[in-house]
Amino acid sequence: MKPIMSAENITKDYGKEKILKGITLSVYKDTFTAILGPSGSGKSTLLNILSGMIQPTTGCVRHGDKTVTNFTQAQLADWKRANVGNVFQNYLLLNNLTAAENIKVGICPGMSSLAFDRLTRILEINNFLDKFPAQLSGGQQQRVAIARAVIKNPHLLFCDEATGSLDEANSKKVVELLHNLKSTFGVTILFTTHNEQIARTAERVLTIKDGLIYNDVTNKNPIGANDMVWR
Ligand SMILES: Nc1ncnc2c1ncn2[C@@H]1O[C@H](COP(=O)(O)OP(=O)(O)O)[C@@H](O)[C@H]1O
Ligand SMILES: [Mg+2]
Repeated sequence: MKPIMSAENITKDYGKEKILKGITLSVYKDTFTAILGPSGSGKSTLLNILSGMIQPTTGCVRHGDKTVTNFTQAQLADWKRANVGNVFQNYLLLNNLTAAENIKVGICPGMSSLAFDRLTRILEINNFLDKFPAQLSGGQQQRVAIARAVIKNPHLLFCDEATGSLDEANSKKVVELLHNLKSTFGVTILFTTHNEQIARTAERVLTIKDGLIYNDVTNKNPIGANDMVWR
């Protein structure tokens, strides 16, 4: 199978510190790939390079037949707009907008979007769309942030520790819903985490250690989100 996205020999230095030391990976269409590693191992740095948020020191990122790392700023902006959704640990909702208004921020003029009602029902947020973020729980806020990221129907969804601020029940819900979105709408998910249980739900697990991919495993029997065991 041909990968939808790949990276070749990615390095990233910050001053004298070598954070990524030559990462090569492939990502397959409509799968959930976990990037697993302890805090400080370079997961966010790698994800941000793959999503075009930052440039690597050396190496290239490809998406389909395009080389993302060769794009001009304008090409990069167009590519991100058409292809990339982002979900962060801290939701990053706009506090002065309702849940519905926050989701609509993610709609790109001129591009088709997913049906708002269907998406909000799948994410189980249709009952509080008129509420402001401060009136919602963390889990509810994150589901609104996911709706905002996917309403434009991106090919690629980058989730950086998306359950890092949530408790067990809400984490399970978010992971379950991300897998549902993947199957329902066809979206390729990259999810950084230090949580091995979340990695067990993924079809692929890339483990980062010392700036390199230490392990690249295809998970033949991913577990369901509700079967994750929290400690
Ligand atoms: N913009 C930056 N400038 C300098 N150092 C950075 C920067 N971003 C990340 N780092 C360093 O890179 C290392 C990896 O960070 P990060 O990618 O955030 O790891 P993780 O997401 O796995 O916790 C850390 O040592 C961090 O301090
Ligand atoms: Mg991080």
